[in-house]
Amino acid sequence: MREEIAKETTTEKTRKEGLKIRIYPDPVLKMPTTPVERFDEELSSFVDEMHRAMALREGVGLAAPQVGVSKKIAVIDYHDVFYVLINPRLLEREGEQEGEEGCLSFPGIYAAVKRPGRVKVAAQDVTGAERVYDVDGYTARAFLHEMDHLEGKLFIEHLSMLKRGIIRKKMHKRAIGENE
Ligand code: NI
Repeated sequence: MREEIAKETTTEKTRKEGLKIRIYPDPVLKMPTTPVERFDEELSSFVDEMHRAMALREGVGLAAPQVGVSKKIAVIDYHDVFYVLINPRLLEREGEQEGEEGCLSFPGIYAAVKRPGRVKVAAQDVTGAERVYDVDGYTARAFLHEMDHLEGKLFIEHLSMLKRGIIRKKMHKRAIGENE
C-alpha cells in the first residue's frame, strides 16, 4: 500500500514537472547540438513540453540541451510573446548592452553580461517555415543566451575569469551536496 502511494506520487510529480532541467556541471550542457531535420508531431510536442517546463519555473528561455537533448531547439517567452527557435542563425548584430542574466541550469545565480543591443536572427518554426526576427533589449539578450546554449556555450563564459571561477565553485559545491 505504501509502495503504491509512493508510485502514484512519483507519477503525479513527473506529470506536473515534466522535463527535468539539467544543472551545471552536467556535461550535456557543453555538448555540440545537431540541426533539426524532421518537423513532425514529435517535434511539436517536445516544444510544448519545453514551454511547459520553462513556464513552470518562470524562465524566460530554455534550450534543448538544458533538458538533455542535443538538438538546435530553443524556446523564449518574454512578456507573453512566445518564440520557437529551431536551427537559428545570427544574421546581424548591432550595438551593445549590459544587463543581469540568469539561467535555469544555474539556479539562484545572476551576473551582468555584455551582449549586442540588437540582433537579426533567422530560425525555423515547428512547421519548418523560415522566419526572421529583429529584436532588441532583453529579447535580444534572451535570443543570444539561448543560441549560445545550442553551441554548448554558457553565460558564465562571458564573465571574467574571476567571476566565472566563483560561480563554478558554487555550482560544484552544490552538485556534491546533492549527491551526498
Ligand atoms: Ni540558460
